[in-house]
Amino acid sequence: MASDSARIQVRAGMVGMGMIFDETYRPFFENVKKRGLYDRSFGDVDVPLVAVASKTGQRADRYQKQAKSLGIEFQNFRGDTAVQELLKQDLSFACVATPDNRHFEASKAILQAGVHLLVEKPSVLSLQELDELVALAEERSVLARVVYHKLLDPDHKKLRTLVYDNVLQHVNNGYCSLLEPRQISGAQFSEWISGRNPGTYVAVHYIKLIDFTFGGRLKTITCTGQRGIVGAADGNTWDSVQLRLIYEYDSGREAAFDIHTSWVAPDNFPGYVEQEVQFRFDNGVWNGHSRKRGVEVTVENLTPIRMKNTINNHYNGTFVEPWGERSQRGYGVEVIDRFAREVAFVEHGGSAAAREERLKFVRSLHYADLAADRQVVAAVQAMEMILEQQAVGCPDCVVRYDGQQLQLLKPTQKICES
Ligand SMILES: NC(=O)c1ccc[n+]([C@@H]2O[C@H](COP(=O)([O-])OP(=O)(O)OC[C@H]3O[C@@H](n4cnc5c(N)ncnc54)[C@H](O)[C@@H]3O)[C@@H](O)[C@H]2O)c1
Repeated sequence: MASDSARIQVRAGMVGMGMIFDETYRPFFENVKKRGLYDRSFGDVDVPLVAVASKTGQRADRYQKQAKSLGIEFQNFRGDTAVQELLKQDLSFACVATPDNRHFEASKAILQAGVHLLVEKPSVLSLQELDELVALAEERSVLARVVYHKLLDPDHKKLRTLVYDNVLQHVNNGYCSLLEPRQISGAQFSEWISGRNPGTYVAVHYIKLIDFTFGGRLKTITCTGQRGIVGAADGNTWDSVQLRLIYEYDSGREAAFDIHTSWVAPDNFPGYVEQEVQFRFDNGVWNGHSRKRGVEVTVENLTPIRMKNTINNHYNGTFVEPWGERSQRGYGVEVIDRFAREVAFVEHGGSAAAREERLKFVRSLHYADLAADRQVVAAVQAMEMILEQQAVGCPDCVVRYDGQQLQLLKPTQKICES
């Protein structure tokens, strides 16, 4: 077996050390430290976490102490120059898990430095930003990928498999709902919640699921929302959002999807989040409930606040494995492992002469490719445009997307006579 120093390295940087780092990136880096990353194409690769950047560096300080005992040692940069400092290190890839409206600047700096990028959902908030990052990744010959871990949820994989195999035929319409507890808007995100909405934060999971699973061309976006709990009733910080997307398919037929989101569900709700979908096809109906997958547990003095009654053991559950080892695993961690494999494959999966070919191949895997995220970004941008209008007293706008640009249509005054 090769010693640590003899092994090939794929070196990682991390921008943003908040909740999602702790839930998915941290277990990934800890797992990979223990086991390495192996594939026949690239061999036995180390993936060290080399450096992190965040606003205050406080959580990173705490993790730095804790991680040392696991053999994980990284540089901790904080403040306004943190990302630039991070990029002075020798990195193969960097992940961005900052608040939604701060993805672009960090992502741009990473790509400019010629470093592969993995950015949390929603990738960016406008088509202009997306196009700029895609062009930059192309120019620097690196990957620009987005995390949509719900595409790796076994239930969603099965849905897509049935659609892909034409067992479920032509989706007509559907609904999705994702409700976050109040602590998300009230405590977790209090630093950056102002002017934000839960649609951008979570509807995007389902926009991607719909876009990736059913394909088609996004045409029309409508949206409305409620205020008064997180912020002022006439302000621009939203409690809940209802979004509708209309798609058209090659057959000329259409489908409509309603996505309802909130981050003011009660904290004593029995699950961490409420997540439900229904999709109706020409020949079938798919009902999915990610919270009620079968387990309900009650423990005195623990549930439902410190522990939930309906726990998601598929996302990033902590376990004692049957062979005695403690683990943290699930699709939330798997999606990051998959990205590290894609980077290792591009850099070490064959001859240097064929690197461009490997890069092209990974880019063709659209589930995470930034260029393939265009309709999702269009939907998010349109939703924000409509909410912005509602906040200044012009509700009920509609946005049309022609594949290139978004066009905001304000409601006309005309009353239709029957
Ligand atoms: N995949 C998922 O299901 C999932 C779940 C939760 C969050 N997220 C996404 O992850 C991102 C972060 O969410 P979170 O819950 O971890 O947020 P958080 O508020 O817990 O953490 C944000 C982190 O970013 C850092 N930060 C803020 N501004 C920065 C800047 N300008 N430069 C460098 N660091 C900066 C903060 O210091 C903090 O470490 C968001 O985009 C969110 O949508 C994804």
